[in-house]
Amino acid sequence: MIILAIESTADETAICLLKDGKDILKHQVASSLELHKKTKGIVPEISARAHLENIFPMLFDLKKEFDFGKIDKIAVAVGPGLQGSLIVGVEVAKFLAYCYKKPIIAVNHLQAHLFANFISSQKPQLPAVGLVVSGGHTDLVIIDKKLKIKRLGSTRDDAVGEAFDKVARILLHASYPGGPEIDKVFCENREKFNKKIVARPMLNSKDYDFSFSGLKTSVNYMLGGYNNIDIAVDFQRAVVEILLKKTNRAFKNFHAKSIIVGGGVSANSFLREEFTNNFKNSVHFPPKCLSIDNGATIASAAYYLPYEVELNKLKAISGLTIDQSPIN
Ligand code: KG4
Ligand code: ZN
Repeated sequence: MIILAIESTADETAICLLKDGKDILKHQVASSLELHKKTKGIVPEISARAHLENIFPMLFDLKKEFDFGKIDKIAVAVGPGLQGSLIVGVEVAKFLAYCYKKPIIAVNHLQAHLFANFISSQKPQLPAVGLVVSGGHTDLVIIDKKLKIKRLGSTRDDAVGEAFDKVARILLHASYPGGPEIDKVFCENREKFNKKIVARPMLNSKDYDFSFSGLKTSVNYMLGGYNNIDIAVDFQRAVVEILLKKTNRAFKNFHAKSIIVGGGVSANSFLREEFTNNFKNSVHFPPKCLSIDNGATIASAAYYLPYEVELNKLKAISGLTIDQSPIN
């Protein structure tokens, strides 16, 4: 089973050829990040135009090396994401499916972040708690043995990646994305500062929801009182403490057998360290290159959750949530 997957939900244009859900035959990602540096955040129209410029050269290159007749299915992320960006991927996927007479599989981008963990030879055991931590979303779910996904909780305001980006901008004058900058500063300074100074919103609430807007405000209150590096260190500790506590609560209450983490923030070094210390072999992370947006995660989701759609019914759904089917 060879799946050609297309990803274009935000600033990454990506394609992937995945064989039998485990062998990555081709993996290509082009980012329009550089174009968003000046604005310190993604500008939707610039991102959509960059997808248009990137996608066809990528596919033409692939076609030189690989016979498209051998592809079994075309998969595409239909949402959530930026509408203009999504449309590019969806329409290109339709065009390919029409030309090569292949079935088309619609993929929920958030579910795909979790399925990045299924490409590995060590498959997560089910039921599993899934934690998606990305630039636009923070969701905690339970995945049952039939791969049915139920949402347990989400952020009530900002996504965790968004908080990383904004706090990095305030404290480090970082450009987008700020998460890796905070992570770097944390690694270089964690031994020097271990006071708890910023708030841990909803840490003890008896639910599975999160709030990162309050944490951002709390960072603002600390400005001037502490140096910015120290605030950044405690910010990263606070985020990981909150994510760990809520995930642990779900793991215990649902008697889950494993934990799978996905999305850009799952590349965070302290998150990986703390989750691994706590959950040992039960926790799964994708390789860092599959934490951020890419085509392999989309192909893997399409392999395990094959939502086949009629060509003329395929559409971009910018507001899709993690527990929704990508066809409606
Ligand atoms: O999943 P993703 O690539 O795109 C979305 O679907 O949103 O996630 C991007 C987010 C950005 O907010 C970025 O700052 C964050 O992932 N990120 C990190 C790290 N690497 C990327 N956050 C914290 N630590 C990192 N090492
Ligand atoms: Zn993503």
